[in-house]
Amino acid sequence: MEHTLTILGIESSCDDTAAAVVRHALGPGPTILSSIVEGQTQLHARFGGVVPEIAARAHAERLDHCVEAALQQAGVSLRDLDGIAVTAGPGLIGGVMSGVMLARGLGAATGLPVIGINHLAGHALTPRLTDGLAFPYLMLLVSGGHCQFLIAQDAVTFHRLGGTIDDAPGEAFDKVAKLLGLPQPGGPQVEQAALGGNPRRFALPRPLLDRAGCDLSFSGLKTAVLRTRDALIAEKGGITVQDRADLCASFQAAVTDVLTEKTRRAIAVYLDAGPAVPAFAVAGGVAANGVIRAALQDMCAAAGVSFAAPPLALCTDNAAMIAWAGIERMRVGAIDPADLAPRPRWPLDAAQAGMLGSGKKGAKA
Ligand code: KG4
Ligand code: ZN
Repeated sequence: MEHTLTILGIESSCDDTAAAVVRHALGPGPTILSSIVEGQTQLHARFGGVVPEIAARAHAERLDHCVEAALQQAGVSLRDLDGIAVTAGPGLIGGVMSGVMLARGLGAATGLPVIGINHLAGHALTPRLTDGLAFPYLMLLVSGGHCQFLIAQDAVTFHRLGGTIDDAPGEAFDKVAKLLGLPQPGGPQVEQAALGGNPRRFALPRPLLDRAGCDLSFSGLKTAVLRTRDALIAEKGGITVQDRADLCASFQAAVTDVLTEKTRRAIAVYLDAGPAVPAFAVAGGVAANGVIRAALQDMCAAAGVSFAAPPLALCTDNAAMIAWAGIERMRVGAIDPADLAPRPRWPLDAAQAGMLGSGKKGAKA
């Protein structure tokens, strides 16, 4: 199926209500005609995490408005579409259900095919939308809710090389910021504070570097920051701005070391299969961190692998990535039956054991 495809994407699996229209034409390639994202940060702020019931209600109230706005901004009507792509999981069940039911309703009313998208596949396919990467490429998803290495083999096949066994790195940045009295989201705050700090002052652990493979862990590192802070307070009655800067810099250096070393190992596994055009892409909020990004870029240069990082607005949750994943699936004929069901837990790589536990933003896979 190689003619022009115009797809509506719908995303509601966590705390962003989003709709977008993406068109793919053979010559020019993909174009994002519109992308609407309504965040729910304000609604959840005072609870210190996403409240599923509040998220579900907000999605149910706002989704159809977002879809209308996306169609209007794109200058298309439902009649101009070739299909409707919707996040069918993993995520918070209430939000996923709102999206899937809306997509099924639109599908029934218009006769358009409905395509269920794994949210992680949306993130993982984004470098093809933004940078035109060819399969197979290696991907690191690194955000407040995700942390995993994936080899994207084709539009529907992803091989998971490893991931976090506890917190996601963004979650660790957020918790460290909280421990040190910095506002949320913590990542940019910790990065800013670290600018004036000494990354070698505190010898923090580099979890799981002593274990083979690509799994990661960040929970112990966060606890080590807590203990160091408490030791400073016990010693001097408080921490100075310089202590805080040094702790932030030391923490960021530890995260960077862990991510870089695990990326080096993931690249080695990926290169073993002999990809024709070796490529690595990083996506997710933590990819905005200048120190981490530069270290990953250097690692790729040393390994002879190209480096890509989609623009931040397409790294964080959005519906353009869902519409694009819909285009990718349609092009290989992977369309779902009309009774597409939500899947709150849905590992991208079914061959790998599912991740246990649930982060502050809901199920991880
Ligand atoms: O991808 P994202 O916007 O949302 C989800 O997690 O779904 O990622 C947000 C996460 C937050 O935990 C935030 O603290 C982190 O990304 N983050 C950063 C930076 N900017 C955002 N972490 C480290 N350094 C940054 N500059
Ligand atoms: Zn996401």
